Amino acid sequence: MLSNYSATAIAHPNIALIKYWGNQDETLHIPSADSISMNLGSLITKTQVILDPELNHDVLILNNQLADNAATLRVQRFLDYFRNHSGIKTCCRIISENNFPTAAGIASSASAFAALTLAAAKVFQLEPDLKELSRIARLGSGSACRSIPAGFVHWHAGYDHSSSYAESFAPPAHWDLIDCIAVIGDEPKIISSLEGHRLAQTSPFQKIRVETARSRIEVCRSAIIERDFIQLTDVAELDTNLMHSVMMTSRPPLFYWQPPTIAVIQQVRKWRSEGLSLFYTIDAGASVHVICLKKDAGIVQERLTLIDGVKTVILSGPGDAAHLLS
Ligand code: PMV
Repeated sequence: MLSNYSATAIAHPNIALIKYWGNQDETLHIPSADSISMNLGSLITKTQVILDPELNHDVLILNNQLADNAATLRVQRFLDYFRNHSGIKTCCRIISENNFPTAAGIASSASAFAALTLAAAKVFQLEPDLKELSRIARLGSGSACRSIPAGFVHWHAGYDHSSSYAESFAPPAHWDLIDCIAVIGDEPKIISSLEGHRLAQTSPFQKIRVETARSRIEVCRSAIIERDFIQLTDVAELDTNLMHSVMMTSRPPLFYWQPPTIAVIQQVRKWRSEGLSLFYTIDAGASVHVICLKKDAGIVQERLTLIDGVKTVILSGPGDAAHLLS
């Protein structure tokens, strides 16, 4: 008979430089194309999983509050994977907290499912290797597979569960990039990314975006490996614009940008023309991630803060792999 047993893990969210948008397989989150990201080291999700034989359903506490039914159900379904593979049928108490505002336009589902994967694998006594941890995290939320390995990460789209996983191709110390996150708006997303992935294929631009993804992946990978900021600027902004073109031409269309989003894009382009090295990238929200070199992060943060509609600017360098706390 199992007594209470617990494990705690931490994971970082990641910012995609080549985006994931659209699936080949919606259930397994097998994406339509590869993607590349950087973990965000200053942002942390810490998750404790406690096996509790007294419980008859999983209980999820998010940032000190009992989670709603939808979030609890999503986690419960995810934990069923571990119950099925371990034969241990016990329910869990999951206590998870982020050190960053949940509605700040920073995808917390990636770090949430990455941390949950590590802690759950431990309490359910499974011993997956790094690739397998990435595959399992992907089942919770696609981009979570990129929060398992360290630093700069490539998610190989693959074509089935086994071939679709993420791996690191450069450690965090490889390049002193800083993500200056200009937080815009704090209302929850109207359309979740889960629903957005489904709509991607209704855009006439998705096909061409997917067909040309391979060449952007190659350029982005080599730009990072060679620390070529100009090359990275060019490919990352193009990729963001392509993803948002797909979003805006889906049926129904998805407009994540708000007026301050455009204001930030325009300022980034202006500052670049004046000699500053920086570029923008935007996920499924209004906030803008402005990437620059560490030496320029202070000035970029200062300038972004002055733009009307920018609520706060959060800074982060490259982050480590997800890991268990002893
Ligand atoms: O993992 P999901 O389903 O939250 O999708 C993430 C989608 C984007 O953040 C818009 C792009 C990406 O690659 O992270």
